[in-house]
This record gives sequence, C-alpha cells and structure tokens, in this order.
Amino acid sequence: MSITFLLNGETVQVRDEPPTRTLLDWLRENRRLTGTKEGCNEGDCGACTVMVSDEGGHRALNACILFLPQLAGKAVRTVEGISGPNGELHPVQQAMIDHHGAQCGFCTPGFIVSMATAHLNGRTDHDDQLAGNLCRCTGYAPIVRAARAAEGAPVPEWLAPPIFGPEISSGGAAEPRGADSPPAPFQPATTDEFARWYVDHPDATLIAGATDVGLWVTKGMRDLGQTAFLGGIADLRGIEVTDTAIRIGAGTTLSALLPAMADHHPDLAEMIRRYGSVQVRNAATLGGNIANGSPIGDGPPALIALGATLHLRRGDERRDLPLEDFFIDYGKQDRAPGEFVEAVSIPRQDDRLKCYKISKRFDQDISALCGCFNLRIADGQVVEARIAFGGMAGTPKRARAVEQALTGQPWGAEAVAGAWDAWATDFTPLSDMRASAAYRLDAARGLLTRYLLEDLGAATRVLEVRA
Ligand SMILES: Cc1cc2nc3c(=O)[nH]c(=O)nc-3n(C[C@H](O)[C@H](O)[C@H](O)COP(=O)(O)OP(=O)(O)OC[C@H]3O[C@@H](n4cnc5c(N)ncnc54)[C@H](O)[C@@H]3O)c2cc1C
Ligand code: FES
Ligand code: FES
Repeated sequence: MSITFLLNGETVQVRDEPPTRTLLDWLRENRRLTGTKEGCNEGDCGACTVMVSDEGGHRALNACILFLPQLAGKAVRTVEGISGPNGELHPVQQAMIDHHGAQCGFCTPGFIVSMATAHLNGRTDHDDQLAGNLCRCTGYAPIVRAARAAEGAPVPEWLAPPIFGPEISSGGAAEPRGADSPPAPFQPATTDEFARWYVDHPDATLIAGATDVGLWVTKGMRDLGQTAFLGGIADLRGIEVTDTAIRIGAGTTLSALLPAMADHHPDLAEMIRRYGSVQVRNAATLGGNIANGSPIGDGPPALIALGATLHLRRGDERRDLPLEDFFIDYGKQDRAPGEFVEAVSIPRQDDRLKCYKISKRFDQDISALCGCFNLRIADGQVVEARIAFGGMAGTPKRARAVEQALTGQPWGAEAVAGAWDAWATDFTPLSDMRASAAYRLDAARGLLTRYLLEDLGAATRVLEVRA
C-alpha cells in the first residue's frame, strides 16, 4: 500500500502499513505526534479529533476510526499543526487559556482541533460543533465561552487552505505486497470500476466512512481480509433533486445530507443533527447506515416512512426495491454476493414527516428507539399512513397494523386510541441496556399521540419550550 497525503503541511507517503492501520495509531507510534489523544478508541469522545481537508472543504474527524487509505489525497492537520510555525497560538488556543477552558487537559487537543475547524468553516453553532468532544473536568461553559470569544478573529495565515498538487490529489495507488502482508486495499475512483471489481471479489469488506467498520478493528480486533475503500468514488456521492424524487448516492455523508434535508423534510434534518456527532456525521455515509442492517440505525426508519426506494447494483445489473424489503431479518439483508447499495430515492411529497429519536443522552447517543411518522390527512381523515421504527424489532420495521388501524379514521385522539392494540401486533421489542421492552412499547404508543399533538400545533419538545 502506498498513500500520499499532507500532514501539517508536509507531504508524506505511507508505505507498507496494513490498510486497517488507524490514523491515530500511526500518528502516535510512527510520527510521535502524541498531541492527538486516545480516549475511547471508538469514535465517542473526540480526544483524537483531527482536521481533514480536501476540495470539498475542512472536516473534523475522529482519527481513531479513520484508516490510512481514507486519507489518500487529503490534507491532515493535527493539534501540533493548529498553532503557527513559530509557536504562535491560534485564536481558539488563546481563548481557551483566557477563559480557563482546560483542567487536566486530556480532552483539550481534541477540542482545539474541533474549534479551529469550526472557526475555519465560520461555524458559530458551538453546542453542535462540540457535541462530539467530551470533557470530564472543565464543564462546557468555559469551553463554549472560549469558542464564542474567538469567533471574530481572522483565520491565521498558516491555516490558509492547502494547495493540492497533482501528487496529492491523485491519492495513492495500491501496490503489491509481500506474501505475509494483508491484501492491498482496492481504492476505486468510479462506481463502474468498483462494480466490475466487486463482482470478482464478493468477499471483500467494503469500507465507506468506517464509523461501523472501524470498531470491528479497534474493538473487535477483526482481520478484514481484502478491503475496498469507497470514499474516493465521487459519483457514488451527491444528492439529485428532480420533480419526482430526491436521489441520494450511497456515499453521501450525513453531514452533506443534513442541509439538503432541511429544505425538504426539516424534521429528518433535525434528527440527523443528533446522529452521532460532527466528527461521526462527517465520515458516516447513508449507504453504510442502510447496508449495515442495524436494527437501531436512524436513517432507515425515516426513509421507510417517506416511502424510499433502494437502488442496488451488481456489475452492470441494477434492481430497485422498497427499502423496508431490504431488511429480511436480524443481520440478514436482501443483498446478493457482489451487490452493493448505489443510492436511495425519496419520492417528492408535501412534508408531513416527524422523526423522534429517543435516547438516554440528547447528543451523540445511539437510539433506544427511533419512530418516524408520515400520515396524509384529507378532509379530516387519515388517507395514508406510513410509520416505521428502529429499536423495536430485529430490523427497521413498518408498523403495518397501526397504519391499517389508522387509515380511513377521522384524525384525532380516538384514532390514536383505536390503534392501541395494534402496536403489540406489530412489535415485540426486546429489553436491553438502552430500554426495557415495556418502555419501548409505551414510548412508541406515546409518540403517535405526540405526532397528533404536534399536528394540532402543541409544543411537545422540551427544547422548544420557552419561558
Ligand atoms: C460514536 C458513534 C455514534 C454513532 N451514532 C449513530 C447514530 O446516532 N445513529 C445511527 O444510525 N448510527 C450511528 N452510528 C453508526 C454509524 O455511524 C452509521 O451506521 C453510519 O452511517 C455507517 O456509515 P459508514 O459510512 O461509516 O459505514 P462503514 O462503517 O464504512 O460500513 C458499514 C457497513 O456497511 C457496508 N457498506 C458501506 N457502504 C456500502 C455500500 N455502498 N454498499 C454495500 N455495503 C456498504 C460496509 O461493508 C459495512 O458492512 C454511530 C457510530 C459511532 C462510532
Ligand atoms: S479516541 Fe475517542 S473518539 Fe477517538
Ligand atoms: S480538561 Fe480534563 S477532560 Fe477536559
């Protein structure tokens, strides 16, 4: 494997590292850049945050679940590269000192990189920008105060956008390796190239954002065998809006999806804001969220409630299916060897979608359950109901009995009460560390009431209640 990227402004070429070597381990062990810390090693704490830039902009990412091939052709800046060449402090560093934003300091490098990236991108929504950085000692108020204080300061000249020369922008080609080495990663540039290759290598592990796969390595210690990195495939990304549908490429990140959804289905955008953290959303793709088949993924329930169609591809053959039919059983999806998720399409419609992510923490938490409701009402009657849940079964699942109980009824409290028994027909949830089965069923029922109340204009969200 040979990968070229910029590290704190210097061109580096990485050879003979396994494709699943994380950037965090490489920085600390190979380069002795120990400012980047290891806290959780699973994307949860932000201690390992680095800034990664390419033609698409600057992003904060968690280095602990970022494999070296994902950096091909990009510019990486660690906390060591946030201050100037002569030790000049970045405005966010100075502000952290002035506002007493650090105590033990373990989290501080990660905060500094997140803050410097947000500063570079002109972002002032500090609570959201820093939701992926945990601090155990200082308390967030001084840190947010520091971020605010640095808002107006000019971007230091040493952080001027990196120049991508041909040696960088070309990324890195896979090289043959010795007999004992793991297979060289496949790093396609186009969907066609990948589709052809995957037919011949159906056992390969596909890696998009690695926010799931990264943990298979850092926590599961798994050997991934032959890998294919999808991050370099530009035509697998992007959102196309036509008169009839919104087509989202599988490689589209949750960060790219959020503003696009704000225009069409704002409640889905609001849910995405609580999906992982900035660092996770900057890496995680919608295709990965669907393909992993997780019963608690947040994307599928919303997309199913919107009536989305999944586009699968194997070589040159393509097939479409309703997204709900993709999830056959726990851990089992309708995907043939060599077949991959190419895109998902949402039919254009008037927005009636509400998404409720129920988790123990507001920010950066996996859902205990996630309910998405999309009811069409005409002349006071429910004419169509699409309701889908994550966290209530072994797969993301539609509440078909509830939908049936509601359809044709006058839209109101009686219809909600009339559907009471249908919930238990649709779902037999499990108890686990996130919630008990009884809580899940009660909460799901309650969410239908909430949907009705919101429809009637009631304020039901704690964060919306103003004194
Ligand atoms: C700290 C943290 C917080 C998280 N919070 C949330 C959350 O709030 N909500 C939520 O839903 N998820 C959450 N996740 C899970 C994860 O971020 C998502 O599932 C994410 O969308 C996965 O996308 P990815 O691109 O990173 O997938 P990867 O990890 O790269 O891949 C995931 C799976 O999909 C396969 N795959 C990827 N792309 C394709 C494709 N195009 N075709 C076929 N197979 C493919 C891979 O082979 C793998 O099996 C969180 C993860 C972390 C680490
Ligand atoms: S070490 Fe915690 S997010 Fe990377
Ligand atoms: S200052 Fe100690 S963890 Fe944040």
